[in-house]
Amino acid sequence: MFSAFANFMSIHTNKVAVITGAGAGIGRAIALQLAKDGFDLAVNDIRSEQIQKVAQEVKELGVRCLPVVADVTNEEQVAKMMEDTFKTYGRIDVLVNNAGVCPIRGLFDIKPQDMLNTFHINVVSMLICVKAAAKYMMKQGKGKIINAASQSSYRQVEELMEYGATKWAIRGFTRSLALYFGKHNITVNAYCPGTVASEMQDSIMQKVSDMRGITMEEYKEAATKAIPLGRFQPAEDIAKLVSFLASDAADNITGQNILLNGGQVMC
Ligand SMILES: NC(=O)c1ccc[n+]([C@@H]2O[C@H](COP(=O)([O-])OP(=O)(O)OC[C@H]3O[C@@H](n4cnc5c(N)ncnc54)[C@H](O)[C@@H]3O)[C@@H](O)[C@H]2O)c1
Repeated sequence: MFSAFANFMSIHTNKVAVITGAGAGIGRAIALQLAKDGFDLAVNDIRSEQIQKVAQEVKELGVRCLPVVADVTNEEQVAKMMEDTFKTYGRIDVLVNNAGVCPIRGLFDIKPQDMLNTFHINVVSMLICVKAAAKYMMKQGKGKIINAASQSSYRQVEELMEYGATKWAIRGFTRSLALYFGKHNITVNAYCPGTVASEMQDSIMQKVSDMRGITMEEYKEAATKAIPLGRFQPAEDIAKLVSFLASDAADNITGQNILLNGGQVMC
């Protein structure tokens, strides 16, 4: 008990971050990293069991953590999440818009409503979360918004058409937001991972392999060969980039879409 308190005292920064889609994969890794950096957190996911588990892991690192089950496309739920976060901690310093989905469909299988749904979850959710969180950041005179884009916003994969389109939109939206929020001292950047092991990536690799009529091992081998550093990226590496973007060291970085992809796409 004493050691948990000592841990809390030593790392605590009095800063607060909200992370969406934190119940698994990259979002979970970001939550654990920001907790190690001393942030108090609100961790969100649409899946209750997963987010309760992550909240427990975060608390064990010695910071406070509010688990929030909410759908990031639901304006009321998102507004309540930000209100509850502010009521709990008295501030919101960082918003990580990480939640996202990646449907795999061939062109002629994509219905307009499918594509609208994907845009709603991946892109419109960012509008909803940014509007709900930024009002607190604007009052504080400082804030950081960090969005999940993707290498797919630079390089196309045939079976990831809808997804790629949403991630291109996020790149553009990130820049527009950076332009808008500059006068409020709020920075807006995006991380663009390459191939990161996660539930999402497992499902992508399985479905794309099936569509191409190859085994998942064959797909993985070809995908790895296409990366100059010859390896996929661990979720923890994306979390370290987010940790930097969330820190004071990144106060003068805004409007940037940063690739972390082993060199697969170079810009
Ligand atoms: N894994 C990769 O290789 C990779 C590469 C580039 C970009 N990304 C992006 O990084 C982000 C995280 O990816 P991941 O691989 O960890 O995915 P993941 O599927 O493992 O985790 C995403 C989490 O978001 C949650 N979520 C989905 N819809 C939600 C909603 N409406 N409201 C709240 N939560 C919701 C899911 O329940 C899940 O826990 C995504 O935006 C993804 O597009 C991932």
